[in-house]
Amino acid sequence: MTESNHRISEYDVDPLFLNRWSPRAFSGEALDEQALLTILDAGHWAPSAFNSQPWRFVYALRDTPEWDKLFPILNDFNQSWAKTASAIVILLSKTHFAAPGSSEEKLSYSHSFDAGAAWGAIALQAQLLGLQAHGMTGIHLDKAREILAIPEDGFRVEAAIAIGRPGDKTQLPDHLQGRETPSPRRPLAQVAFNGSFAG
Ligand SMILES: Cc1cc2nc3c(=O)[nH]c(=O)nc-3n(C[C@H](O)[C@H](O)[C@H](O)COP(=O)(O)O)c2cc1C
Repeated sequence: MTESNHRISEYDVDPLFLNRWSPRAFSGEALDEQALLTILDAGHWAPSAFNSQPWRFVYALRDTPEWDKLFPILNDFNQSWAKTASAIVILLSKTHFAAPGSSEEKLSYSHSFDAGAAWGAIALQAQLLGLQAHGMTGIHLDKAREILAIPEDGFRVEAAIAIGRPGDKTQLPDHLQGRETPSPRRPLAQVAFNGSFAG
């Protein structure tokens, strides 16, 4: 059992995993590009099938022209709180890759899975730097393609990520203030099965 960040795990997991969470209130402070690149570098060290590294990160730091370009990709709800984040990342995956020894690109079974592994590493590295990363699929997919000039084929828009230092929750509307707390998890026995699938 580990207790940290108002969470209790059943087994002795490292506090790192409990300390990562998804705040909506951020401090609104500027983030150094080197810190953001450190976080993306961690994502880039994720494992992937055949080391194909299908993740792509398009990022913007607050108070820059790039922020104004990427911010409208978020839906209205996510814009309402992510406006105090320090950086936004749009996570894409490349859908096809050439296996070793082949020059022909074929559909990857795991491009999204691999990009998800990168997201996990990003969230943990952000937390290690005193920041938090909040994933979002509440995004305008068509707008993302248009704004970032992503071709129709070959890349999947996976998610957006808001990164920043957690801030004062009173900046959020009442209904979000009540949700601004690290969430629990269902019992491990409901998701981990010894030898037979049980839903
Ligand atoms: C792929 C993904 C998409 C998500 N989309 C949104 C979103 O659009 N808006 C939002 O406020 N939170 C979003 N979340 C945050 C989840 O609600 C949150 O991770 C979950 O409730 C668990 O809470 P925790 O991250 O604090 O442990 C998303 C998280 C993930 C991983």
